[in-house]
Amino acid sequence: MKILAFETSCDDTSVAIVKDGTKVLANIKQSQIEHTEYGGVVPEIAARLHAERWREVFESCLVKAQCTISDIDYLAVTQGPGLQTSLLNGTTAASFLSLLYEKPVIPVHHILGHICSPVLEREVREFDFPVLTLTVSGGHTNLYRCESFLKHTLVGQTRDDAAGEAFDKVAKMLGLGYPGGPIVSQWAEKGDGHKYLLPRVFLEKDSLDFSFSGLKAAVYRLIQERDNASDETFIADVCASFQQCVIDTFLKKIQRAFEKFPSSKALHFVGGVSANKQLRESFQELCKKYQKQFFTTAKFDYSTDNAAMIASAAYFLIRENPSIGQVQFLDSNARLEI
Ligand code: KG4
Ligand code: ZN
Repeated sequence: MKILAFETSCDDTSVAIVKDGTKVLANIKQSQIEHTEYGGVVPEIAARLHAERWREVFESCLVKAQCTISDIDYLAVTQGPGLQTSLLNGTTAASFLSLLYEKPVIPVHHILGHICSPVLEREVREFDFPVLTLTVSGGHTNLYRCESFLKHTLVGQTRDDAAGEAFDKVAKMLGLGYPGGPIVSQWAEKGDGHKYLLPRVFLEKDSLDFSFSGLKAAVYRLIQERDNASDETFIADVCASFQQCVIDTFLKKIQRAFEKFPSSKALHFVGGVSANKQLRESFQELCKKYQKQFFTTAKFDYSTDNAAMIASAAYFLIRENPSIGQVQFLDSNARLEI
């Protein structure tokens, strides 16, 4: 079964073709660097760029996968959550293709896409459930207890900022550019993670929720108190100390979650922040200690927003309920549940 998927929920225009939920035939992505000078995504600019680029991305995806539209069994698209005007580009493109070529189209929840992303370029049978899935991006920080790729219970979430948002804000405060995650983690490699003691917020004794706004405020104070905040050693040490604080916070929460749900077979780490090498390594080590399997995405490209994960989620949805795919015009305003 070949699924062609669109993902335009934020600032990446992505189209992918995935066979049987796991084999990525093509996953084309154009990231919008135009937002860099604003230090964050400008919704109007994002929407216009999606509109200008989706067709070129769509066509190069078909070429790369060596497919024509007649080879495609289903279309899929991120219906939400995300920036409304960005989402509208993907849902409209997928809906027009659905009506024009009479292909069924599946609406997909963005976070469900992230949850399914570890399966890309692997075999479904490699995964044992139940598992804990930590999904961390610029918009959310959620911990799920999953019985399968489609069946989840939310057991923890951020009470304020998402962890990716904290990375982005720290980069902005230090004048390092956008998106902050990859930049901060590069600087962190050159710094001392124990130079500045930043607040690790663990909340109530058994809480699996997160809070990163205090950490962001502490970094802000550190920068304000500094005479020369553009000193390279200072920047590297702040980035490393910040990243260490995020790692320690997650480690504590995952430990608590393993103790609360001892039958969990594995930890799955997904979402844009799962492209962070230091976090991946720390989680891998913790899982070894607890004798749990550890899965993250097979490629960094499947951690940050991409259409392949949307195709994969659509595959599981079709397998569960074959009548879910309809030839239809999708509303980008619908409130999807996962
Ligand atoms: O999943 P994603 O691409 O988009 C959303 O759904 O939000 O996640 C984007 C987030 C951004 O906040 C970005 O700074 C962060 O993921 N990110 C990283 C890294 N690469 C991307 N954070 C930490 N380390 C990275 N290497
Ligand atoms: Zn995302």
